[in-house]
Amino acid sequence: MSTEVVSNVTPDALTPILARWSPVGRSGLLPALIEAQEAYGWLPEETLTRTANGLRVPLSEAFGVADFYAHLYTQPVGKTIVRVCDDVPCYLAGSEKICAMVEKYLRIRAGETTPDGAFTYEIVPCLGHCDHAPVVMVGSQVHENVTEDHVTDLLGK
Ligand code: FES
Repeated sequence: MSTEVVSNVTPDALTPILARWSPVGRSGLLPALIEAQEAYGWLPEETLTRTANGLRVPLSEAFGVADFYAHLYTQPVGKTIVRVCDDVPCYLAGSEKICAMVEKYLRIRAGETTPDGAFTYEIVPCLGHCDHAPVVMVGSQVHENVTEDHVTDLLGK
């Protein structure tokens, strides 16, 4: 009788990232953290510690960078991040209504993640597309001139 061994161990995505960025030391910290987050979805303390050690920078610096950049997460987040800009041009173009629609559709408030882990919703400052306010990002996709009617389509995809 043969037995199949199924491993629950996931490949270590951080090792090749550290191999790529450790030669440049401190200046590789941000790109290494971005790649680590792409691999894991967020930056657990162990990942920050291994990255700091691998690049030979103080652990406090790795935490500092992760805290500074709004797009780096030290807590688990949903599979898709929904970002609604509420800076002045977007606010004047109706971002409040967009936020209300997102909250109604996802049944969460800003800063929360849906119970199924599918979405995290954030209100953010300028996304750099002010000429086409209001602006919403769903994952890495930027959506301009968003109306309340668009929200359901954007989040339903
Ligand atoms: Fe919303 Fe710039 S103010 S994209």
